Amino acid sequence: MLSGKNVLLGITGGIAAYKTTFLVRLLIKAGAQVKIVLTESASSFVSPLTLATLSKNPVLTNFTQTDENSVDWNNHVELGLWADLMLMAPATANTLSKMANGNCDNLLLASYLSAKCPVYFAPAMDLDMYKHPSTKYSFERLESFGNIMISATAGELASGLHGEGRMAEPEDIVAFIENHLASGLPLSGKKVLITAGPTYEAIDPVRFVGNHSSGKMGYELAIKAAELGASVFLISGPSNLTIHNNRIKLIKVVSAEEMYVAAHKYFNEVSVAIAAAAVADYRPKTVANQKIKKSDEDLSIEFVKNRDILFSLGEIKEHQFLVGFALETENEVENAKKKLKKKNLDAIVLNSLNDAGAGFGKPTNKITFIDKNLTIKAFELKTKAEVAVDIWGEIVNRIHA
Ligand code: CTP
Repeated sequence: MLSGKNVLLGITGGIAAYKTTFLVRLLIKAGAQVKIVLTESASSFVSPLTLATLSKNPVLTNFTQTDENSVDWNNHVELGLWADLMLMAPATANTLSKMANGNCDNLLLASYLSAKCPVYFAPAMDLDMYKHPSTKYSFERLESFGNIMISATAGELASGLHGEGRMAEPEDIVAFIENHLASGLPLSGKKVLITAGPTYEAIDPVRFVGNHSSGKMGYELAIKAAELGASVFLISGPSNLTIHNNRIKLIKVVSAEEMYVAAHKYFNEVSVAIAAAAVADYRPKTVANQKIKKSDEDLSIEFVKNRDILFSLGEIKEHQFLVGFALETENEVENAKKKLKKKNLDAIVLNSLNDAGAGFGKPTNKITFIDKNLTIKAFELKTKAEVAVDIWGEIVNRIHA
């Protein structure tokens, strides 16, 4: 949810400011770009140098920055417009009151007034200040503006007293924002399972039988599902692709048997499962313990059938919307329909090897989406990222119908 987002972090003067170093790291790890505006008093609690190093951006406090040769204007309007979201953490009673009343006596408040994006605030203060009617009034007023409060928690406070007023922990703040951004999205609150990539079936410790699948289609489906608000289990065979997304749990497997076990482990929990993997249909009957030495004779390897993961999921499915892929070279639509029925699927994505640009290892794909009512929709040749959008569009329409 935070990947690629511009986050403007406002830090005000409370002891919890020291925790913002961790907060910045978590935001960056989640894929956000972070710019920081620090109030004068916050800089007594946390060093601008530390924050600038972590955020890889200058940390701003004043409207102007002066060196011996020039004066630079820190443009609050630009900062406000740059931000996809603004986060005030820790937000002191003083700053919250000023925000609630439209005061504008520092760069942070001017940026707040200029921001058109969602604004989150994580209060931090002593328990009596937190309970005070004036502070409560600030909370209510800010929420009436559409700002989003990340409530303080109870515990030991810097004063030594126990009570409500501790700033939410950095990881809880990030989780709160991610969940909030995800809510209202079409797959919000849903879990999905995607298989991707090839499987490698071992012959001996150094050799295997595999295929040229890159995993790209499955990874794009996972990224799109996460963007639509889902939590994703991505079960991937060997692939060079990498993925960093808090909403995607990558489960790496090698063989079809390992993929089978992993898929069954998570299937119960999910609302949608998509089998995009190019699973090997057969594996060598025995795997040699030692590297097979060459001899003057030809070598024959006996293969046994792998279990069909998708078929087995079709047998046990209850509420899940189950989608398979079919790669066909002749009688494409008829064969895909047969596969859909045989494997008890809700839909099948057909790609035909007869279409130029579609297939293994290619950046593009040309698909036909067929659902269990045998409604057929053919799409143009597109990038796999665009194809993922089309596939999810079809699935979302059906699960919300
Ligand atoms: N699949 C699977 N487990 C297997 C084999 C296939 O989950 N052991 C899934 C694939 O991920 C894909 C679909 O089943 O979603 C493909 O079905 P399959 O019958 O294997 O078709 P193809 O390999 O395309 O074709 P064919 O039967 O013609 O070999």
